[in-house]
Amino acid sequence: MLSAQQRAIITATVPALRAHGETITRTFYGAMLSAHPELLDYFNPANQRAEGGQARSLAASVLAYAANIDHLDRLGGLVERIATKHVSLEILPEHYPIVGRHLLGAIAEVLGEAATPEILEAWGAAYGQLAEVMIGRERALYDETSTQPGGWAGFRPFRVARKVAESGSMTSFHLVPADGGPLADFRPGQYVSVRLQPPGSAHAQVRQYSLSAAPDGRQYRITVKREGAPAGLPDVAPGLISNFLHDHVAEGDILPVHAPVGDFVLDEASGRPVVLIGGGAGITALLPMLERLATASTREVVLLRALRGRDQHAFADRVRALAGLRTGVRSVTWYEVADASDRLDGYCDALGRLDAELIRQHLPAGEAEFYYCGPVGFMAAIEQALDTLGVPAARRHSEAFAPDPSFVVEAPDAEAMARAG
Ligand SMILES: Cc1cc2nc3c(=O)[nH]c(=O)nc-3n(C[C@H](O)[C@H](O)[C@H](O)COP(=O)(O)OP(=O)(O)OC[C@H]3O[C@@H](n4cnc5c(N)ncnc54)[C@H](O)[C@@H]3O)c2cc1C
Ligand code: HEM
Repeated sequence: MLSAQQRAIITATVPALRAHGETITRTFYGAMLSAHPELLDYFNPANQRAEGGQARSLAASVLAYAANIDHLDRLGGLVERIATKHVSLEILPEHYPIVGRHLLGAIAEVLGEAATPEILEAWGAAYGQLAEVMIGRERALYDETSTQPGGWAGFRPFRVARKVAESGSMTSFHLVPADGGPLADFRPGQYVSVRLQPPGSAHAQVRQYSLSAAPDGRQYRITVKREGAPAGLPDVAPGLISNFLHDHVAEGDILPVHAPVGDFVLDEASGRPVVLIGGGAGITALLPMLERLATASTREVVLLRALRGRDQHAFADRVRALAGLRTGVRSVTWYEVADASDRLDGYCDALGRLDAELIRQHLPAGEAEFYYCGPVGFMAAIEQALDTLGVPAARRHSEAFAPDPSFVVEAPDAEAMARAG
């Protein structure tokens, strides 16, 4: 437990650290990754760039959570999500002191002469306590994933049994355990991670992929969208792992896969109507939810899909078949760009970008639960639309296919963190 004096020290130093968030981030990563290059296997360089993403979120959130160490009950949801992401990456207890040491080093550097031993001790104590909470939750998740029937620890080799093009930019990989052993179940919405080191890459990389078909005890299916370089940045390479999977991983190849995790899961105890909203590849996490809802419940459900165009439109026939199974299951798809044939053969229902008004037009009666998933920009637009529609946080469930933007906290702020939780 932190002493009252340590808590006061932390509160007093927060403004200075807040003012230098970027410097802390840069100092922290630079020093840690040069002292521990083995950690480059864990961090995605695409997320370390200056304009935000993971680099900002990890260092800033460590500070934010450490400053809120006495209110972790109110931050429960965020701790759970980070622990889950860490488990998917195989972050282990021995990594925590490394991060702690370099974070304290960064704090010392930013505060300069003002960094007294008492200040560093107070931040060290807060970090230590937070690390204990995270390690404890991660240990429980590791136990769960490894001891459940068909579960395993670490990365298990899977053979690509089938590779199927689902659309111009989306490809499914059907994965069976290479050891022929049993396979753990998962909840609709959960994901696995894949670890790969493409030839020419100095480090291995881990990426998460949602399980895109209901569990059947024999195989998993992931569906990967080919990630291009961002528009207007011709010197940036396209996505490393998604392109490697598309271009170089073939049927018969072996992929190391981490057991399913994830807290973006369908609440099957609720009887409320459901609105599923998917942007781009976000359908992957939503499809097993739709399958479950269409086949094993009577809840009204509507799937709203926002796609750039036909190129991204995976699973059109499967969604149509599920919508035909019973009344009360509907789907509407918008394309940003479409030609006449897309409208004629019924692929795309409408043109344009999903906004609050369009969502409102398709809402089921009653207070629905909202599940939404997709790239970061899409998630921000949906959050805004749901704000406009007055949907309370308790009925929102989401997963961003990138470092989660909800973790991008500028600095420790107990009230804001409590509201986020
Ligand atoms: C929980 C979860 C579930 C997911 N499920 C799915 C899924 O089911 N299907 C799916 O397709 N994806 C899914 N993702 C996303 C997936 O994990 C990968 O992030 C995605 O495949 C991109 O990885 P990559 O290695 O191809 O791209 P990266 O190499 O990570 O690059 C990402 C983007 O950043 C750009 N970039 C790289 N370096 C820079 C730079 N210096 N400056 C600017 N831009 C840069 C790249 O060009 C690319 O556009 C999921 C993610 C999460 C967190
Ligand atoms: C108390 C300590 C820690 C906190 C509060 C913390 C916080 C976070 C947060 C907020 C994220 C983003 C999650 C998301 O986007 O979904 C994250 C991701 C991550 N964390 Fe931690 N973390 C801590 C410790 C560690 C440690 C010890 C390691 C090991 C080196 C680590 C490695 C990572 C990695 C590799 C990612 C994903 C980054 C990427 O995609 O590049 N973290 N962490």
